Amino acid sequence: MFNRRTTLSKFLIEQLKGSPDSNALAALLVDVAAAIKAISAVAAKGALDGNTGSLDTQNVQGETQKPLDLLTNEIILRHCDWGGLVAGMASEEMEQPFDIPGEYSRGRYLLLFDPLDGSANIDLNVAVGTIFSVLVHDRDDAPVEADYLQPGNRQVAAGYAIYGPSTILVLSVGQGSHGFTLDKEIGNFILTHPNLRVPDETDQFAINTSNERFWEPPMQRYVEECKAGKTGPRGRDFNMRWIASMVADVHRILIRGGVFSYPRDNKAPNKGGRLRLLYEANPMAMLIEQAGGLASTGRNRILDKQPEQLHQRVPVILGSKCEVERIERYHREFDDGTDQPFVSPLFNERSLFRPEARA
Ligand code: F6P
Repeated sequence: MFNRRTTLSKFLIEQLKGSPDSNALAALLVDVAAAIKAISAVAAKGALDGNTGSLDTQNVQGETQKPLDLLTNEIILRHCDWGGLVAGMASEEMEQPFDIPGEYSRGRYLLLFDPLDGSANIDLNVAVGTIFSVLVHDRDDAPVEADYLQPGNRQVAAGYAIYGPSTILVLSVGQGSHGFTLDKEIGNFILTHPNLRVPDETDQFAINTSNERFWEPPMQRYVEECKAGKTGPRGRDFNMRWIASMVADVHRILIRGGVFSYPRDNKAPNKGGRLRLLYEANPMAMLIEQAGGLASTGRNRILDKQPEQLHQRVPVILGSKCEVERIERYHREFDDGTDQPFVSPLFNERSLFRPEARA
């Protein structure tokens, strides 16, 4: 049985055969996978290693850091800085990109990552994850921040790990999205979920509805209609899920389908969304699209968005094709002024659309 299994290394050699610089990219992804194994071990220790609770420090986004945010950031840096494969790295936990130390040679890849996504959940023993994106650095010089500002359609690889009851790595090098489960006894990632597919249709949506009053009208319309279920214009019931850990919510969509949204809101209008474009939205968008789904800001394809800043945020709507297309349509209709007010049969004393919100 063991000798029939496809390990991550075997898979990468086969998938990248014939593509330029395939050995280096495969070697980098194996280094990232090694870091993920180390993070999996650390995360599984929970409070035993004293790594729960919060620190007094904040990251560049102004979020309180957890001990594991810093430790996992360091684990990825140390697994990937020495091998001559990356030209530089950027992370949610570092304001500036990380330069490869002088004693090591530089490679041609840029690695961008969120080392511990959903870390607010770690004290609750709820699934957390690591998200990463790989870009090419074409110049010989050491990269500067501008070199990282490439649209997601230029990613040569993207993936995430989810640390749940098992550790699963989901990866794409542009030929589908594939899942590997960590066999802890032998220390290998084994291909267990080849060719993940997001179904076109779904009856599940994921969104933090406590922000509803801050959303734009097209998003309010969409969620109101889902909640109205059989009694509303959709004519069928929907179910809602929100784990508040993007890896876990996206993983559910890749396994079961659904639509995940962290839309634009006017809570902090200058931020343009909650999730970070370069190391959260772009890699997840690539994985979802490679699995047959769509990923949008509501108005544009996420992967075509030209980044302007390293830690830029973006509205994210991704998952089953028909639902993402519908949400995009609601945004278009709102922008054109052709949308129809939706009056809930349950709460029909008010219209969802506030005329002043369109101004
Ligand atoms: O990185 C941000 C993140 O933790 C995501 O993993 C998750 O989807 C989101 O924030 C949860 O946000 P909220 O706490 O507003 O529900």
